[in-house]
Amino acid sequence: MGDLTAIDESEVARAVDVLRGGGLVALPTETVYGLGADASDDDAVRRVFAVKGRPADHPLIVHIADVERLDDWAADVPSTARRLAAAFWPGPLTLLLWRGPNVSDVVTGGRPTIAVRVPDHPLALAVLRAFGGGIAAPSANRFGKVSPTTAAHVRSDLGDDVDLVLDGGPCTVGVESTIVDLTGPRPVVLRVGAITAERLTDVLAEPVLVHGGDAAPSASGGALAPGMLASHYAPEARVHLVDVDEVDEVLVALLAADEGLVALLAPTVLPGVPDGVVELEPAGPPEEYAAVLYARLRQADRLGVRHLVCVAPPAEGIGLAVVDRLRRAAAH
Ligand code: TXA
Ligand code: MG
Repeated sequence: MGDLTAIDESEVARAVDVLRGGGLVALPTETVYGLGADASDDDAVRRVFAVKGRPADHPLIVHIADVERLDDWAADVPSTARRLAAAFWPGPLTLLLWRGPNVSDVVTGGRPTIAVRVPDHPLALAVLRAFGGGIAAPSANRFGKVSPTTAAHVRSDLGDDVDLVLDGGPCTVGVESTIVDLTGPRPVVLRVGAITAERLTDVLAEPVLVHGGDAAPSASGGALAPGMLASHYAPEARVHLVDVDEVDEVLVALLAADEGLVALLAPTVLPGVPDGVVELEPAGPPEEYAAVLYARLRQADRLGVRHLVCVAPPAEGIGLAVVDRLRRAAAH
């Protein structure tokens, strides 16, 4: 298991060797596990797309060791990016910027922009520092599946298609990074995550909108994160997102329909759950809920659940990201 205090230097060296050789390394981050490749090696990046089964026009996030590396990847970096990086890196915030002149079309999916972040995980940072370059890493799951938050999830999803899986323990945040587009006249959140629009607004002292809320389209020509399909967050089980006062009614109806196993995921133990419903371990308050969400969705699939009834955490802080992922899963 990952010991967060002692970095295994031989594992780090092995990871760097694999990356330099054009191989794939699954890396722990604070959000979800990433499937990493040398971001400047087109063949290695193409392997990431192939292993994930991801369309070539869905660009990857480039992970860097620190903000000093930002200008290797991005051009015309605005002061807003430096301020956000100073406030939140390392951390679960991805900046969408104009791409630098030496960045390949492969990693950006042919877009004029690039997504960059510094992850907050000691093992990922050790690998990034030792490697020196950027590591392109999408979540380490097959395209359209739930993101992995443990090394075991990665192994069960990707098997031998990944050359090395680094085990850094369970991800502490549990949902993907916030993506903020800084290429337009105003910053716009394209994907909600642990860093809320309110916190971005506080640092920038200007309003940061959330796309899909009242945000204007991006200046970079609809650079809306193309990886935001509902299916990205959906388990095999059909997800029903319900208010707590509807739970009984929905469970009773699903049991009566007799279409297969019915399970419940909620922040706390709920009273009066009908017999025959599989009660998953309560997910807790928002931060805990985020950390266990994907593991619970995977557990439902392992149990062969057909209908998963979910009660969301309060829609505040990271709870907003949990609600967002549950909505997408339920829409699938
Ligand atoms: O927390 C995270 O961000 C994790 C960890 C591994 O860092 N990574 C992650 O990567 O979630 P992925 O590939 O599953 O999602 C990246 C998202 C996708 O929605 C993708 O379309 C978007 O970022 N993206 C990347 N580059 C972009 C670009 N140039 N323009 C618009 N969207 C971009
Ligand atoms: Mg993903």
